[in-house]
Amino acid sequence: MAFSIDSHAHSTSISTFLILALFAAATQLVYHHRLGAEAASMQVMVPAYFNPTGNAAAWAALNSAASSLPNRVVAIANPSNGPSTSQQSDYVAAISSLHSASGRVVGYVYSGYGNRALASVKADIDSWYAFYSIDGIFIDEVANTDGEQSYYQQLYQYIKSKNSSSLVVNNPGTSTLSSYLFYNGTRVADVICVFESSGAAALQWTTQSWTSSYDPSNFLALAYNTSDVDVEDFDYGDVIDHAYQQRAGWVYVTSDTLPNPWDTVPSYFSNEIEYIAEDNYLP
Ligand SMILES: *[C@@H]1O[C@H](CO)[C@@H](O)[C@H](O)[C@H]1NC(C)=O
Ligand SMILES: *[C@@H]1O[C@H](CO)[C@@H](O)[C@H](O)[C@H]1NC(C)=O
Ligand SMILES: *[C@@H]1O[C@H](CO)[C@@H](O)[C@H](O)[C@H]1NC(C)=O
Repeated sequence: MAFSIDSHAHSTSISTFLILALFAAATQLVYHHRLGAEAASMQVMVPAYFNPTGNAAAWAALNSAASSLPNRVVAIANPSNGPSTSQQSDYVAAISSLHSASGRVVGYVYSGYGNRALASVKADIDSWYAFYSIDGIFIDEVANTDGEQSYYQQLYQYIKSKNSSSLVVNNPGTSTLSSYLFYNGTRVADVICVFESSGAAALQWTTQSWTSSYDPSNFLALAYNTSDVDVEDFDYGDVIDHAYQQRAGWVYVTSDTLPNPWDTVPSYFSNEIEYIAEDNYLP
């Protein structure tokens, strides 16, 4: 009996509808505003421990990724467990190409959990800046127990003295202390890799509560041995979603496995980049 609704009831239902619609629009605005404060797009950091001549296809894939995510892709170059002893023309070309594609490159050095002589680490940093137009340094084997903060703070300041725009990424590869991000009120790292393990382990990972005081752009998660075939909610997309929920603003997931899961990029790399570009992990 559609025509028997009296006009009063009709107008009431229209007002109710309008009020509900306005309320929905308002909550939508509030919701988006709240998200705007927290839900930044993720960035990608790829340990590119492969040679531009020996694995040209993987470097080409990095260029494509950087073009798809302008200024959101960083490759960690690693010619020889560090910068090697001389400039290599294929790395000069690879770094230049990635820059042209709106990507960045940081150079790998290791620090032996604070046991490697500072002078040796600084010499590697010197070589990186002398040989290449790099955008920062990735420090591996970073201590995560109390006592080495000032060692890493000295390296941080040394890298910034080379170029104040340098990105300094420290890799304990696991949980750490907030004092390895800020010590004595000043930075020790721009980004900390707080997770480096298999994708299966990544899905079980819970980040530490102290990280909630900082923007996700301070944290990186790296996961290997992860497929693009979804088996019981386990594929690269699930690992990216989980990393996002654990407030890692930087991520990279690969199918590659131990002993060196970083010696190529996965065959699904372009799909992974597309997934991140589409912000599919956002709530
Ligand atoms: C300093 O680093 C930034 C970012 O990597 C780069 O764009 C700039 O050219 C560098 N400056 C110099 C003098 O090399
Ligand atoms: C921390 O800062 C205080 C005050 O500036 C200074 O006295 C102290 O030496 C600093 N500690 C380290 C380890 O840098
Ligand atoms: C990769 O992970 C699967 C479980 O997800 C495991 O069965 C397999 O042994 C792992 N492979 C390697 C090489 O680590």
